[in-house]
Amino acid sequence: MEEIVQKKRMLSGIQPSGDLHLGNYLGAIKNWSSRADAYECFYFMADMHTITVRQTPADLRRRTLEQLAQYIACGLDPEKNTLFVQSHVHQHAELGWVLNCYTMFGELSRMTQFKDKSAKNAENINGGLFTYPALMAADILLYQPDLVPVGHDQKQHCELTRDVAQRFNSIYGDVFKVPEPFIPETGARVMSLNAPESKMSKSMPEGCVFLMERPEDIQRKFKRAITDSDTENCVRFDPENKPGVANLMSIYSAVTGRSFEQIETEFAGCGYGKFKPVVGEAVIETLRPIREESERLLKDKAYLEGVYRSGAEKAAYVAEKTLRKVYKKIGFLAR
Ligand code: TRP
Repeated sequence: MEEIVQKKRMLSGIQPSGDLHLGNYLGAIKNWSSRADAYECFYFMADMHTITVRQTPADLRRRTLEQLAQYIACGLDPEKNTLFVQSHVHQHAELGWVLNCYTMFGELSRMTQFKDKSAKNAENINGGLFTYPALMAADILLYQPDLVPVGHDQKQHCELTRDVAQRFNSIYGDVFKVPEPFIPETGARVMSLNAPESKMSKSMPEGCVFLMERPEDIQRKFKRAITDSDTENCVRFDPENKPGVANLMSIYSAVTGRSFEQIETEFAGCGYGKFKPVVGEAVIETLRPIREESERLLKDKAYLEGVYRSGAEKAAYVAEKTLRKVYKKIGFLAR
């Protein structure tokens, strides 16, 4: 008899609160497409999380759909991965409420993301911003995943998820699988082009290259990229003393597959002024097919609707099983 090996399950969410950029692509999304062979993968647009900060409704709607198109254009095959929108699967809100009641005020108060975001949005420190990690725990625990790939900034939320899962399980028996955070070490850490000590981020648009950006804008940003104030003017990998050049080299390495030594040889004797536009050109050519495919998909609304509807259906099937178990354990009367 053929042996059926159950694939490990993996789940991750991204907030459609900003346009996707080169850092998201090289640091994460690029590596996702190959995972589908080894894992059963769920990816969702975390729209419910975005409203903890005020959003413009039309922009949120547009970005949610664009993000889906961009994921697919980056190589995430909807036949092999479950792609869905968080708010389409009502079990997230429902389990989120339950887990709020198993997450402590003190725990939530210690979350560094809450402290950062409330400092930045002093005029809108709402309850959702505070209890956000309980919703994130629900997002994860509904699907009983083995692994949750996240960036460093989400590690604390993943640890809280584990604590909440263990707390719940210790009261009610084994309801939730306790997931492992998975911080992939593949993938480049892309820094801002004009502030190479900070991560590339949409909040610093001049140092950030967006996936949908026009080639001429991309090239302008690369030409203006900060290199280093040393007099050496030599392409050499030295992240400590030459963070700007090291960042450009990492980007170039990620898009061409060349090693740092190969890059040093390639640009031996060239100054930064020659190096920067070559990196820009390589990035433009990497992003071109992604942008074109995203634009094509965005014209085919019926296709995208089909993808997110069938994704939500598959997700809800899994999520409902967990939710039903939870409701039963905590004593809610069955419908
Ligand atoms: N909080 C995550 C972020 O801001 C997004 C997110 C929401 C998420 N729910 C999740 C990530 C569940 C992984 C698993 O990046």
